[in-house]
Amino acid sequence: MPSLHDDAAPASAFRLPEAVGILGAGRAGTALARAIARIPRLHPGTAAPRVVMAATRPPAAVRRHLLIHAPEAEAVPVDELAAGTELTVVAVPREDLDDVDPALLAGPRTLAVVDMTNTWGDEPVPDWLAGPGDTAAGPGTVLIARRWAAAGLSVPVVRAFSEISHHELGTAGRTEEPRRALGVGADDPGPGRDAVAALMAALGFEPVEYAPLARAAALEPGGPVFGRETAAADLARALALRFR
Ligand SMILES: NC(=O)c1ccc[n+]([C@@H]2O[C@H](COP(=O)([O-])OP(=O)(O)OC[C@H]3O[C@@H](n4cnc5c(N)ncnc54)[C@H](OP(=O)(O)O)[C@@H]3O)[C@@H](O)[C@H]2O)c1
Repeated sequence: MPSLHDDAAPASAFRLPEAVGILGAGRAGTALARAIARIPRLHPGTAAPRVVMAATRPPAAVRRHLLIHAPEAEAVPVDELAAGTELTVVAVPREDLDDVDPALLAGPRTLAVVDMTNTWGDEPVPDWLAGPGDTAAGPGTVLIARRWAAAGLSVPVVRAFSEISHHELGTAGRTEEPRRALGVGADDPGPGRDAVAALMAALGFEPVEYAPLARAAALEPGGPVFGRETAAADLARALALRFR
């Protein structure tokens, strides 16, 4: 697995998370849930992690929605999303991030919070996130990680699954080479980033691990690899070139 950090252990050394929480049950969140549900078909004998999901609607309404869009996933109240999960994926529009309570994103077993969000078009984002995606302050994910850490989030933020459309995320993973490469970024290597990379590999994508999060500028909308099927070496090169 290509990595931009020599000290990163291979993600294959880490077991899959047993449970993943997804905040947001729209196009992106349900596509990730469907991709996770494909794991046993891609890897016969491997169980898929349990997936729990929450949205703004109450769990009964989310449950009805999931019956159609991600039937293997379970609806839970927002305040129970991270109670037993190793990863929490945030898949809500950035314009709604002020309504997300970072204290609810990590529970006792949580290794990382995954930022899957993008600023899309002229979406009105919170003031603290406004401005072009790769200003001197860094791409939006850097600002999100900083804000959540200041609010008391004690696990790392990992940038992943943001540069692929929901159409492809739910279906494009494969076990045969060449597999599509996707980035897995964090400010430091560690068990959180490794768990995300292990999940991504199980979904049938080639994880390219990078640090720090500021390198994510290459993956933002308008960046050179956003929405493109990219080989691992090309993605690693793009991530390295865009760092400053
Ligand atoms: N669509 C894609 O192809 C794609 C790919 C990669 C990344 N992304 C990024 O993923 C994010 C979500 O995009 P999307 O296309 O999935 O949007 P979407 O279809 O509009 O779904 C948004 C979901 O977020 C939920 N939500 C909003 N505010 C919330 C809050 N405060 N707490 C809990 N849930 C909340 C909504 O709840 P309700 O269901 O109750 O309304 C809805 O389920 C965006 O940042 C987007 O840029 C999207």
